[in-house]
Amino acid sequence: MDIYLDNASTTPVFEEVIKQLPVWTRNFYANPNSIHKLGQKVKNEIEKVRQNIANIINESTENIIFTSGATESNNTIIKGYIEKTKKREILISSIEHKSVLNVAKYLAKKGIKIKFLKVDENGKIDLDYLKKSLSKETALACIIHTNNETGVKQDIKEISKILKEHEIPLFSDTVQSFIKEDIDFQDIDFYSVSGHKINSIKGIGLLVKKKDLSPLIHGGGQENGFRSGTQNVIGILAIGKAIEIWDKNKEEYKKNLKQLKETFETRIKEEIPDIKIVSEKVERANSISCLIFPKVDAQSLVISLGRQGVYLSSGSACSSGTPTPSHVLLAYGYSEEEALKAIRVSFGVFNSLEEVEESVLKIKKSFEKIYKFSF
Ligand SMILES: Cc1ncc(COP(=O)(O)O)c(C=O)c1O
Repeated sequence: MDIYLDNASTTPVFEEVIKQLPVWTRNFYANPNSIHKLGQKVKNEIEKVRQNIANIINESTENIIFTSGATESNNTIIKGYIEKTKKREILISSIEHKSVLNVAKYLAKKGIKIKFLKVDENGKIDLDYLKKSLSKETALACIIHTNNETGVKQDIKEISKILKEHEIPLFSDTVQSFIKEDIDFQDIDFYSVSGHKINSIKGIGLLVKKKDLSPLIHGGGQENGFRSGTQNVIGILAIGKAIEIWDKNKEEYKKNLKQLKETFETRIKEEIPDIKIVSEKVERANSISCLIFPKVDAQSLVISLGRQGVYLSSGSACSSGTPTPSHVLLAYGYSEEEALKAIRVSFGVFNSLEEVEESVLKIKKSFEKIYKFSF
């Protein structure tokens, strides 16, 4: 039996979405920008989805822009806002996803000043440091809502209050928490969403903007001029359906995910008492658990578990064959050695308690096998 515990990377698509894909493809092939009846029928479907999402998040429809995913949303928000303002400084947390960090690095080369915000040992933004970092030149603060590696949630209300006093807009990447966790959307000026993290298909996302932005992609002026290019109709219908399903079942899904995570953490600590759960004592997402193993390196563990049909991620990136420790865990103050021993277990709506128990036993078995040879 395959056990998929990598839902922070991507999620399996809802059956109801899968079933509709050929139907939508057949029925809504026309270009939504054509003025004839067939085109307008597709446009209506897109606008119905936008309205439905707007109702769920209590936002006006013109502030919701469909994109190809959160990477594009994050790029559009940061570059698009910087282009609109005269201020030349960005505050950014040191624990952002690469799709935010690397935009900031790109802008730094163009002369924008980047100030990195510190986090404490639990991964929470240091609010005093945030206050000290603000200046008249600060254009935007970029602070992830829920960290994708550890699940740590920020005190967005508190952060927003500080920023509002200085009239600095807040951009928060809500990819790991949108619709899955409670979010006070009124505290955030810009946020990003990815379809494939909420059981929709890949290649679709959205951004929400409460302030003006310059578009990243120019062309035919679709999406009210904010994102040109013929709309990904099937993607929009798919993300719309996934958000609708999540919204309808939210309380049940949240309860189940919490139970899966709590059971997993209790059981793994019983089986491997020396294991460390990152940021165990602070508020974390229901779906993400980051573990640091004694002695055993995460890559070996992930490979060994994969052979046994348990699929999860290590906390490190491995693009060149050599694992690099996670910048997130380093920012929390973990050593490189510890960061290379971290794995992320992320739960989804299709996981069961039986899978949790089986994965714990398999993790223990792999851990003990590798541990024996690591001296
Ligand atoms: C926190 C966070 N932001 C942004 C992204 C990028 O999302 P997408 O794959 O839709 O571009 C991810 C995906 O891993 C993520 O976890």
